[in-house]
Amino acid sequence: MKKQVLSLILLLGIFGHAMADGDAQAGQTKAIACGACHGADGNSPADAFPKLAGQNAKYLVKQMKDIMSNARPVPTMTGQLDGKSDQDLEDIAAYYASQSIVVGEADKDMLVIGERLYRAGDGSIGVAACTACHSPSGSGNAAAGYPSLGGQHAGYTVTQLKAFRDGQRTNDGDGKIMRQVTYRLNDKEIAALASYIAGLR
Ligand code: HEC
Ligand code: HEC
Repeated sequence: MKKQVLSLILLLGIFGHAMADGDAQAGQTKAIACGACHGADGNSPADAFPKLAGQNAKYLVKQMKDIMSNARPVPTMTGQLDGKSDQDLEDIAAYYASQSIVVGEADKDMLVIGERLYRAGDGSIGVAACTACHSPSGSGNAAAGYPSLGGQHAGYTVTQLKAFRDGQRTNDGDGKIMRQVTYRLNDKEIAALASYIAGLR
């Protein structure tokens, strides 16, 4: 049953409607103010701020809309998206999607646990393999809008996994995909996953 639900989710994503293309060049200008935190090319200098470079446009647009509607509260970004039209969001997303992420390095001590969980999950505690949706290389699934993870700051990834687990981030849909994936993960496993992901390409 779980497997069927998973395939359905994957199918719906893959055959979902493609969105109108944004204009990356126009997006670069519209994203100037964002560079203060996310870096001019979307490679942010500090790990409290997610890297946006290379992220798929569909995921970026969804997050910006969720932040605007407060479905995903990000107090640091208050006012940043005020007055942005759907076209502005598409353009900004196209700009970041066209950039390349600068990949970090995994901590060798945590590599084994992180890699095992990422690739195989852990059936005994109901953790699905991350590869199923985020791909073996961590590049996500652009058509489905599943985020690319590879190269992301470990500190940011830890914050997100804990926020899903502890119910502070709830914009993962009615299927609660990420809340279920993280429900039984402990802090050590989360740190190992985040470290592995930081070096994943
Ligand atoms: C003052 C700093 C700051 C500025 C300026 C800022 N952001 Fe953010 N942004 C953040 C923080 C902090 C988060 C993540 C918060 C969290 O931990 O959930 C975030 C998250 C995001 C995310 C979600 C990324 C993901 O991987 O889920 C997107 C998309 C985003 N910002 C886009 C923008 C855009 C577009 C602009 C400019 C219009 C902008 N931000 C300006 C601080 C900033
Ligand atoms: C069934 C599909 C699925 C599986 C399996 C899955 N994820 Fe996700 N993940 C998603 C989706 C969809 C989102 C975006 C939710 C949203 O719209 O906010 C997401 C979001 C995330 C984010 C937030 C990214 C960001 O930029 O803020 C992280 C981190 C993440 N997943 C890590 C993992 C890890 C680690 C695993 C394995 C332990 C995993 N995921 C397993 C579908 C999945």
